[in-house]
Amino acid sequence: MYAKAAQRIKSSRRCVAFTGAGISVESGISPFRGKNGLWNKYDPQIFDIHYFNTHTKHSWEVIREIFYDLFGKVRPNAAHYAMAELEANNMLSAVITQNVDNLHYDAGSIIVHEFHGSLKTIICLSCRAKYKISEIDLNILPPKCEKCGGILKPGVVFFGEDIPEPARTNSFNETKKADCFILIGTTGMVAPANMIPTTAKSNGAKIIEINPCVSEYTSSITDIFLEDKATIAMEKLMEELEKI
Ligand code: APR
Ligand code: ZN
Repeated sequence: MYAKAAQRIKSSRRCVAFTGAGISVESGISPFRGKNGLWNKYDPQIFDIHYFNTHTKHSWEVIREIFYDLFGKVRPNAAHYAMAELEANNMLSAVITQNVDNLHYDAGSIIVHEFHGSLKTIICLSCRAKYKISEIDLNILPPKCEKCGGILKPGVVFFGEDIPEPARTNSFNETKKADCFILIGTTGMVAPANMIPTTAKSNGAKIIEINPCVSEYTSSITDIFLEDKATIAMEKLMEELEKI
């Protein structure tokens, strides 16, 4: 299977990767679903924009605990670095990620479309001013805008919010051009992100999926299923690519 996947990538005209929480699990970040999933411990409604607007302090407290206490302290793993290497070797055109942890950039990937935004940006809900997380003191919650005193919100997409531009347009444009699509570590449970792989498929791309478990995609659109953890699978794939 790995040799077949490597052949497919090598012979592709344009290969794009689509990643989910699973690629960051081996960096120490919990996934949302599955046995150690965050949604087993926390109520997903905390990430609903209406809850954030009405229970801002509590929502911020949980977000700080789940994400910001780790953010900037965890490192990319071999799978992130392999994606960056594929891009550097002109075998990968872009990464579309649902993750907000910045680990693809930290690993050296250049073309990364952050479909669900990023923790590294903080936005004012009133005047839309943008701040870097390093400029904000999270000891005082909710953080307030220096410019207008408005409430600041993490630059990530909450349930009930639109996908940010230009990430949305760029992601679908990349997807439509791809003839090879590598899915890593995603259940495919969340729309509209889960339309990305199905759009790739309907545009004729070959789907290579990396996941230790089956997902919504495996029996529906996946052509080559590499049933492994992301780091193991990417190391095996890179070895096979070396041989051809
Ligand atoms: N390597 C690869 N995949 C893994 C690994 C690993 N080491 N460990 C777990 N996985 C897989 C799981 O089998 C599962 O399919 O990663 C996936 C994690 O699924 P989710 O937690 O649902 O993550 P994701 O699909 O990215 O969630 C999509 O849901 O809550 C929202 O906005 C959030 O972006 C997120 C979206
Ligand atoms: Zn403001």
